[in-house]
Amino acid sequence: MTAAADALDLPAAMAEAAREVEAAIDRLIPEVRLPEARLADAMRHGTLNGGKRLRPFLVLRSADLFGVHPDCALHVAVATELVHCYSLVHDDLPAMDDADTRRGRPSVHKAFDEAAAILAGDALLTLAFEVLAGPQTHEDPHVRCRLVADLARAAGPHGMVGGQMLDLIAETTTLDLGEITRLQRLKTGAMIAFACEAGATLGKADQPHRHALAAYAHDLGLAFQIVDDLLDAEGEAGVAGKPVGRDAERGKATFVSLLGIERARDQARMLADQAARHLDIFGPRAELLRAVARFVVDRKA
Ligand code: IPE
Ligand code: IPE
Ligand code: MG
Ligand code: MG
Ligand code: MG
Repeated sequence: MTAAADALDLPAAMAEAAREVEAAIDRLIPEVRLPEARLADAMRHGTLNGGKRLRPFLVLRSADLFGVHPDCALHVAVATELVHCYSLVHDDLPAMDDADTRRGRPSVHKAFDEAAAILAGDALLTLAFEVLAGPQTHEDPHVRCRLVADLARAAGPHGMVGGQMLDLIAETTTLDLGEITRLQRLKTGAMIAFACEAGATLGKADQPHRHALAAYAHDLGLAFQIVDDLLDAEGEAGVAGKPVGRDAERGKATFVSLLGIERARDQARMLADQAARHLDIFGPRAELLRAVARFVVDRKA
């Protein structure tokens, strides 16, 4: 474990993980002098642009709980972040949220154009699976195969993409609390769950330990999206690095529209506390993951 992790300095530990992930992405998507260089440039713009790198951090810390080699965990962390970045590039497109900024910079379709953003997203998604399937991810092909299948499920119609479709429907339909919970579980929760459980898969964890991480991820994912919606309702665009006020403008059903600011915040806090308690089985080794639960509700971006 690193010095930052030992001292339980979450910001330092997250910054260190973010640097490792950025460096790995930088090596994976080099600048090229090919006629299609614009694609690599757009992919780099969509990935090497800051961001909290929360999902990679979850992969790295959960893998550490099982003594997984950090190089293996880094491959999975990078694959997870590539899928996340692709989802952001497409989420910002005019046909989706029509957002001009992301992570404090022009979104990919603004810095390039819509076609380049669509292709960059496609390329990031497919590259993620190339990374995951590679022998350096794990020596056991069964483990690699499970990771590929789990990430495909988390990202696809029964996960993030399904949730994105529900999210569009939420602009024109009234949803109840149960339906919004399902929407958020798919849209955001599934990728967070993959990130947390990937460590268990890499480390061939037993059922109780895997289950504890799954339970943590479930509550963390919901808390995370409730806070994302709170930031949209009352955050600052300059701090969040992306437009705010859009959900209300579009009449989108969210926890905030249904519960109001205060109850949504209480709900996020309750879920984060509950998430941390699911990690009891790991003892003090999971302290950074517990700190992540607090970070998720206190964050401003
Ligand atoms: C934003 O995710 C999109 C959602 C799933 C809510 P993050 O808040 O993790 O965005 P970055 O990666 O830090 O930019
Ligand atoms: C998007 O949710 C979640 C994704 C799967 C990309 P949002 O549309 O609320 O995310 P932000 O607020 O633009 O980051
Ligand atoms: Mg969206
Ligand atoms: Mg959006
Ligand atoms: Mg949002």
